[in-house]
Amino acid sequence: MTLRALAARHGLGFGAALTDSGLTDPRYLALAATQFSSVTPENAMKWDHVERVRHTRTWDPADALARFAARHGQELRGHPLVWHDQLPHWLTEGHFTPGELAALLHTHVTTLTRRYAGAVTAWDVVNEPVEEDGSLCRTLWREALGPDYIAQALTWAHTVDPEARLYLNEFGALDESPKTKGLHDLAASLLDRGIPLHGIGFQCHLLLGQEAPALARTLNRFAELGLEVAVTELSVRMLPPVTPAKLAAQAATYRAVVEECLAVPACTGLTVWGVGDADSWVPQGSRSPYGTPTLYDGAYRPKPAREAVARAL
Ligand code: XIL
Repeated sequence: MTLRALAARHGLGFGAALTDSGLTDPRYLALAATQFSSVTPENAMKWDHVERVRHTRTWDPADALARFAARHGQELRGHPLVWHDQLPHWLTEGHFTPGELAALLHTHVTTLTRRYAGAVTAWDVVNEPVEEDGSLCRTLWREALGPDYIAQALTWAHTVDPEARLYLNEFGALDESPKTKGLHDLAASLLDRGIPLHGIGFQCHLLLGQEAPALARTLNRFAELGLEVAVTELSVRMLPPVTPAKLAAQAATYRAVVEECLAVPACTGLTVWGVGDADSWVPQGSRSPYGTPTLYDGAYRPKPAREAVARAL
């Protein structure tokens, strides 16, 4: 059975981050079309991809992924509207005034939400807003618009597309920590004010050997606020060489994360970050020595982790 069908038996989504260039490989395409119930554009909706040159927007890659998702009955998860990374140079080096930055962000958020209204079912409205110590990251958005930029972005997105589920998406907030508490406080205060926030996405880029996080407890704490939760970016990377023992340990970690999500009624599903090790964002030898983090190997053959996920579902 496909991962998608197995997850559906629990009412869960099982998605993947995809690239439009990946779809040119028939092996990638076959897995992308069948195994997953949702598509997150891995990069195609990021500001530096959409508007690398000011006022010249490039929609083809994101549109291709949106069409792909529609054709295969998959949900589309928009990612991300507001982030401090992967911004175009003209923006980061443009010496804009706070007022200009606010106007640019408003245009960006409303342009994307309008274009994909009816197609995107959930948006990561703000990506990675919280610092390790639990405070708001001092990004250019926070500096220009003040701490309320998060509430504003959520409100803008909701006004354009009232149907979309609006998320904050964060990394390193899986265990009890100042960061997780900061994210929880932020979500609670937004909800208190009646700001349209519907869910929290938990990035889950794990290192092999790291203890599997006590995710269910964290997810439940957010669910108690009345929010839905999702594992939005799951990967388990390892140091070379790849050995059967490491593949087994990787499989166990994947399985543990799936089980944590299954244990939480408010967990809507999981998204793996990349289809196979050939297309993964953590290729061996580039920025870090870690690699091989996905469910399928370099030739798109299922790894033990894929079988473990299937068994857990
Ligand atoms: C990563 C992509 O996978 C890479 O291709 C890109 O070079 C950098 O960004 N958290 C996020 C994702 O929210 O958008 C990031 O995606 C991975 C970490």
